[in-house]
Amino acid sequence: MKMDWNSIDSIHKRIVERVKKSAQMRRARLKQNAFEFKPFSVKQKKVLTWWCKDSPVKDKDGIVADGAIRSGKTLCMSLSFVLWAMSTFNQQNLGMAGKTIGSFRRNVLFWLKLMLKSRRYHVVDHRTDNMLEVSKNGVINYFYIFGGKDERSQDLIQGITLAGMFFDEVALMPESFVNQATGRCSVDGSKYWFNCNPDNPRHWFKLNWIDKAKEKNLVYLHFTMDDNLSLSPKIKQRYRSMYVGVFFKRFIEGIWCVADGLVYSMFDEDKHVIHGECPYSPMHHVSIDYGTVNPFSAGMWGFDGKRAIRERELYYNGREKGVRLDDETYYQKLKELIGDTPIEYIIIDPSAASFIEVIKKHGEYMVKGAKNDVLDGIRVTTTFLNTGRLFVHESCTNTIEEFGLYSWDEESGDDKVIKENDHAMDDTRYYCNTFMRKWLRWEC
Ligand SMILES: Nc1ncnc2c1ncn2[C@@H]1O[C@H](COP(=O)(O)OP(=O)(O)OP(=O)(O)O)[C@@H](O)[C@H]1O
Ligand SMILES: [Mg+2]
Repeated sequence: MKMDWNSIDSIHKRIVERVKKSAQMRRARLKQNAFEFKPFSVKQKKVLTWWCKDSPVKDKDGIVADGAIRSGKTLCMSLSFVLWAMSTFNQQNLGMAGKTIGSFRRNVLFWLKLMLKSRRYHVVDHRTDNMLEVSKNGVINYFYIFGGKDERSQDLIQGITLAGMFFDEVALMPESFVNQATGRCSVDGSKYWFNCNPDNPRHWFKLNWIDKAKEKNLVYLHFTMDDNLSLSPKIKQRYRSMYVGVFFKRFIEGIWCVADGLVYSMFDEDKHVIHGECPYSPMHHVSIDYGTVNPFSAGMWGFDGKRAIRERELYYNGREKGVRLDDETYYQKLKELIGDTPIEYIIIDPSAASFIEVIKKHGEYMVKGAKNDVLDGIRVTTTFLNTGRLFVHESCTNTIEEFGLYSWDEESGDDKVIKENDHAMDDTRYYCNTFMRKWLRWEC
């Protein structure tokens, strides 16, 4: 074959292009694998160095960092924990725990592995054993991952000897797990590491660890969002607008405070009640809080992709009326509420087994089990009221009344609501936490 200089030149160009492209791809892959650190704040630096040999608090037995969400606690504490372990021990077992193993892997481990790799640690994740093997310069340690709320973790931790334990979001774990895990730290020089967002001031972690930090020889640090220099003012503002009431105080101001007064103190009839005809909504759902002796409450909701309106309600109080209704009669009442509006599905507390069976037997509507985490559901509902996503039509008088009465039980010491005037509130919460939250997840 005859080749002229032009074709050789073009082949050469193509080879150079290909080499350039593969080098670019390799650089992009490396960049993806490296963690991009922003400057550490003073508080983060304290967490990163408190155990170092020149630190005045190096002999303390542990550290607690509490405070606002997104304030940079987990990032610096998880890294500092491993750096401390690697510079103090060799061939030891250490523990790291989140609320569940799954949440720990998602929120902590993913970033921790990137940070360690960018510091040239060799990290092997033994997924089936939930163990991270970390090594560098001939030192190797084994980090076991536990879930404070996972039953299996509670069993597994019983037999292990640990040189240190790191608890992420410790206030979400049972006290028994934390006692078990700290009790396993019997290696000389072992230390405890805790972080969390504030909760009720009578929470066991506040009483038994934070209030006793001096007695237990622990360093205590309080974080606010300003301690995370990677957050822009716009993002901080967005987080501030997401929370109200007790959730604002805890998650934004970082204060351990009692949930008191009205649960939905931000509900304002002038702002949240729709008068006259409801605007058109393309999508409808029904949420139900089922009761036979207690009131039965159902709301029909219209949703336009941005905001929801409780358009109609059904509220039947068997005790007050002196007549208890059976499930078939409730079903007929439900059909009257819905009329000929097409319904996506009905959201109902999974414990209402008999009524769910009746709905399914008729085969006219789809049913979905409600997410029934009370505190989380209330938090999401407050956010939607605050951000102008949730409204009630004036005809839903029972709901409007309950918004004005539904209160925290200040005496309970444990973030409980008073179990009165709570039926329309429960079905509203089911709707917000089960359906709306999915659509507007970037807001809550
Ligand atoms: N020095 C830093 N460099 C880069 N990113 C950072 C730095 N500090 C914090 N971040 C980032 O800021 C975000 C919040 O940090 P982190 O998860 O540590 O906060 P937190 O206080 O544990 O929040 P929460 O209470 O919600 O769990 C994360 O995305 C984290 O990667
Ligand atoms: Mg965290």
